[in-house]
Amino acid sequence: MDVTKQEMKKGKDAVVVSGARPTGDIHLGNYAGAVSNWISLQEEYTCFYFIADYHALTTSYQDTGGLRQKTLAVTADYLALGIDPERTTLFLQSSVPETAELSLLLSMLTPVSWLERNPSYKDLISQLSNLEIRTLGFLGYPCLMAADVLIYHADLVPVGEDQLPHLELAREIARRFNYYYGETFPEPQALLTRGRVLPGTDGRKMSKSYDNIIAFSDPPESVKKKVMNMITDPSRIRKTDPGHPEICSVFAMHKEFNTSGCPGIERLCRAGEIGCVDCKRDCAAKLLEFHAPVHEKRMDLLSRPGDLSDILEQGSKTARALARQTLAQAREAIQIGFTAHE
Ligand code: TRP
Ligand code: SF4
Repeated sequence: MDVTKQEMKKGKDAVVVSGARPTGDIHLGNYAGAVSNWISLQEEYTCFYFIADYHALTTSYQDTGGLRQKTLAVTADYLALGIDPERTTLFLQSSVPETAELSLLLSMLTPVSWLERNPSYKDLISQLSNLEIRTLGFLGYPCLMAADVLIYHADLVPVGEDQLPHLELAREIARRFNYYYGETFPEPQALLTRGRVLPGTDGRKMSKSYDNIIAFSDPPESVKKKVMNMITDPSRIRKTDPGHPEICSVFAMHKEFNTSGCPGIERLCRAGEIGCVDCKRDCAAKLLEFHAPVHEKRMDLLSRPGDLSDILEQGSKTARALARQTLAQAREAIQIGFTAHE
């Protein structure tokens, strides 16, 4: 379908679909970059959010031992942060195996050359040189991602910039399917998350691989310690030295968790009228106002893993009902099989 011809749906008529791999405990960087956006989209749209455990296998197929625990941990974090299963369908990707069948059908019409020129593919192949990653599953990642969103007739897909090439491929795959078999899938639009990039405790981007994260699983005492050890403006030696908040990680935390206090801090810092130790103490206190209740809630949820998996199963049931219908439409469009396959 031509984007210009495609009518943009609004509000609850518009379907938002997004997923994230179960990387383990959610940290402040994940929150600022993506999860906070997922939470606010729930107000306006019909949202489907899933834990992409099939996708986790593409890079971690050799080490799957922690997968279930990580799935429960991210589920607890999402719920504690405010993903609301009453309003939003929160589910597990692998509990909707129809996605895998749609991915297979899409793979039939996806040229390998499209997949090979995908920049994320090329990047990861060179980054993960110690892992045998030249697998069919990894090459076909965008096909699975296309199935993830097309199966719910997604209108909008919130993603970070790194995922744009994948989404573009999903659109091309949808177009190709529609061309051969008739209008079946709307082309999903990217909703570029202007995610705030939160620096970690060492000033680099907060990321598990840099070991510089503050996670919601961290107890309050350790959060405080981490903030007190954060790198600040290195040119400040004495309290009276004028500071540069724009290069300070602590100030970036203030911007995220202490918005109203920022103008005051900025002024005092530039004037050399506040010490970094005091500024960090304020920062930790403000951050903990947000972090501590989320931490407590996620710990409580994790103590009842059965309830967590029930919530995911409930969501998966809802997702699956829709996925079945879409898969039946796709099979019908291709004219494969004789039954509606319900
Ligand atoms: N590829 C995404 C990531 O690595 C996760 C993902 C899988 C996804 N399927 C999706 C995101 C569908 C949005 C829509 O972060
Ligand atoms: Fe950073 Fe605060 Fe120190 Fe300024 S006073 S450099 S904002 S920690």
